[in-house]
Amino acid sequence: MTIQYNQDSPRRVRLAAIGCGGHAIRNIFPTHVYAPVDLLAVCDLDRARAEHCARMFGAGRVYSDYAQMLREQRPEAVQVVTNYDAQGFPRYPQIAIDCMRAGCHVWIEKPPAASVAQVQEMIRVSRETRRFVAVGFKKMFFPANVKAKEIISRPGFGPLSTITARYPQGLPPLSERGDQARIRGFLDHMVHPWSVLRYLAGPTRSIYVQRAANGGTITSIQFVNGAVGSLHMPQGAGIGAPLERTEIVGSGGSVVIDNNIRVTFYRPGSAPEGGYGRSGNFFGADEAAAVTWEPEFSLGQLYNKAIFLLGYAPEIRYFCQCVLDNRAPERGNLEDALELLRIHEAYRQPEGQCLEITGDHS
Ligand SMILES: NC(=O)c1ccc[n+]([C@@H]2O[C@H](COP(=O)([O-])OP(=O)(O)OC[C@H]3O[C@@H](n4cnc5c(N)ncnc54)[C@H](O)[C@@H]3O)[C@@H](O)[C@H]2O)c1
Repeated sequence: MTIQYNQDSPRRVRLAAIGCGGHAIRNIFPTHVYAPVDLLAVCDLDRARAEHCARMFGAGRVYSDYAQMLREQRPEAVQVVTNYDAQGFPRYPQIAIDCMRAGCHVWIEKPPAASVAQVQEMIRVSRETRRFVAVGFKKMFFPANVKAKEIISRPGFGPLSTITARYPQGLPPLSERGDQARIRGFLDHMVHPWSVLRYLAGPTRSIYVQRAANGGTITSIQFVNGAVGSLHMPQGAGIGAPLERTEIVGSGGSVVIDNNIRVTFYRPGSAPEGGYGRSGNFFGADEAAAVTWEPEFSLGQLYNKAIFLLGYAPEIRYFCQCVLDNRAPERGNLEDALELLRIHEAYRQPEGQCLEITGDHS
């Protein structure tokens, strides 16, 4: 894939940005180098932050009131990277709605909302205003996950049968799950593995959660397409252990994604000659040998950069392309957000029961 830099773009999205905090500066504004963006203005409640950001990333104007920015700048799209309010609720739903009502498409970071009702309200306003909201489900854009998706979508892979994912995050005890401040950390992180699962395996029909005393969980999953899966969310693993591992099995082949940078495709084919108890070596035919890809981390290539490996540049580039084409995103949209919040609400229920994730199962 050839990447066009900002300066190469024949047309750029007239973009305004709300939120100039740590993540925006570290990971999101830098993506504009690789995206068709004309950064008109930036806004932060903390004006000094916004001013610094404008100098660093070349915005023409600075605001501390986003309503004023939207009125005066009339951007076609807005990037929103804000934080939680004092009660622990993400600020995205109200800001996204205000932006859509001002005529803008919106890209919001995760977590998009704290409840199903908030996502439904964004969907309602999106339909009413004909503006769309893209959500920063970055893992749907990791090159490793995109490669795995491409492999498992090949006809020869067969229908997906099982999938397992791992992502460390503790689930608070039931007595604390009604308290937004205490469930906030779980909400903040559960969207990561669940967006991978939705991207690779499709919509979820039901889940069954088992929780260890320290908050670690194993969730058994039934997908709408008939596949089954599990999500292991450990709590208390050693520092420095890779956080993630995903394994996807079809009907004859499988894919393993290790640490988000190593993709192995175990291809279908015959077992080593000789049969059980008679095979003197473990080599099968070359055509059936496993294929592993990983970056070489030597060259100054874009693919070696975390801004690409962690999906930030790809997700912002995709959002900009959707704005330029005036088409709603298919990846990282409000329907994805709706399901993830349904799953989040299911985790707030007592564990040890089958919880239906209702929704569009067509
Ligand atoms: N996808 C990822 O890898 C990743 C990583 C880190 C953080 N995040 C997400 O990014 C978001 C921001 O995290 P952060 O660590 O940068 O937080 P932060 O607190 O450092 O920055 C948030 C900024 O938003 C500003 N803000 C809040 N309300 C505003 C408003 N109404 N108008 C203008 N500015 C407003 C705050 O003043 C602050 O400067 C969170 O949603 C977080 O979950 C995502």
